[in-house]
Amino acid sequence: FKIIHLKTTISTNMDCIELGKEGKRNIVVVSDIQTKGKGRLNRLWYSNYGGLYFSMLLDIKDIKVEQINFMASLSIVDTLNNYSTKDFGTVGGQKPKVFGIVGRQKPKVFGIKFPNDIIVKNNHSTDYKKISGILGEINLNYGFVVVGIGININNTIDAEIKDIATSLKEIEGKEFNKQEILNVFINNFNKYKELTEKEILNKYKEYSATIGEKVKIITPNNEIIGIVQDIDFNGLYLKTDDNVIKNISVGDCIHLR
Ligand code: BTN
Repeated sequence: FKIIHLKTTISTNMDCIELGKEGKRNIVVVSDIQTKGKGRLNRLWYSNYGGLYFSMLLDIKDIKVEQINFMASLSIVDTLNNYSTKDFGTVGGQKPKVFGIVGRQKPKVFGIKFPNDIIVKNNHSTDYKKISGILGEINLNYGFVVVGIGININNTIDAEIKDIATSLKEIEGKEFNKQEILNVFINNFNKYKELTEKEILNKYKEYSATIGEKVKIITPNNEIIGIVQDIDFNGLYLKTDDNVIKNISVGDCIHLR
């Protein structure tokens, strides 16, 4: 990857889309701040100074589109685990429930909430804060994919989202070198490119904070509640009250009690 470092921009996803249309590929655009960072579902991504905001521009031929969000979320979890000194159970001073598959050997502080929010979990499945999010955008005409990633590192969390968001600095009580974190992320991402579909999926399940949970999925025209049985590249598999298993690929996922 060639890395382009900006002091400010509207959105690094938008920058990568421009570059993609010009025929450029394998570029990472990173910016100190974004004036209009884009989140999923047309939300705004708070992008004040101290956070890590970057987008990767990839050729559609070089990747498996359905796997890209899984690879990106796993790379983020691995990266954060590399910097976190916290062992499972110490965040917030409470002992959390085990992430994902029960009986997993080494539970970690960070988990993936479907589809690709990176969260820090406390003692209950509904008690978590988001530390990182991913926004993938695909352009079939020009044949590229942009994977935009925001990670709260040293930035102060806006008062409006304090209850639902946290930063690495808040967890660890110190500041981190964002450039180094970006390099670690890229190394991790390249590592996942070498793994098989099955290996990626197994690893994702290991870190899934959503498997086994009762959730509500909200789509533009529907709402559905159920227990998550499994997750794969087609989305999640939800067991509803009438004991039917439904496959859902998109939507906003809320963990319920
Ligand atoms: C989400 O809603 O969880 C996804 C957030 C993605 C934010 C990142 S920050 C860098 C890149 N540029 C953007 O405008 N958005 C993504």
